[in-house]
Amino acid sequence: MTTKHTGTVALLLVSALAACLQAADPAPAAKSNTLMERKLEYSEGLLKSLVRGDFDEARRNAKLMKTFTRLEQLYQGKNPEYAVQLKEFQATNAALSQAIEDKKLNEASKAYGAMIESCIKCHAVIRDES
Ligand code: HEC
Repeated sequence: MTTKHTGTVALLLVSALAACLQAADPAPAAKSNTLMERKLEYSEGLLKSLVRGDFDEARRNAKLMKTFTRLEQLYQGKNPEYAVQLKEFQATNAALSQAIEDKKLNEASKAYGAMIESCIKCHAVIRDES
């Protein structure tokens, strides 16, 4: 992993992800972690903006979501199944971003549904493995 482009802030966030991955251990502790909490926040932001038809706010949240999932990518090599799930998740975010750009609310709501499905699927897959 190269730290050249990531910077200190990114490294801090990656540490949060490391903590997140550790939380995937069988230990029952439901420790909250910064990176995933942010993803939850952005997905809520997306829901709010889509139900209001606020494309600017939706675009902002989709972009932040994309940035955060890029950080997760730094851990792809660690767990191949995680990488697969993350890729699927990113594809749903890309579809959502496109629908937002095109101002197609119906497409966006479908893509949003697919994104949430992907959140839940990844959690299920990771938990099954541990
Ligand atoms: C590529 C895999 C992956 C995707 C996609 C993913 N997560 Fe996570 N998430 C994890 C892992 C790993 C954990 C930590 C282990 C655990 O809780 O099982 C976690 C934990 C969390 C937690 C904290 C733990 C808890 O139970 O409260 C929240 C909140 C969360 N994710 C929200 C989301 C949301 C919202 C999305 C979609 C917008 C999402 N995640 C997508 C892998 C993923």
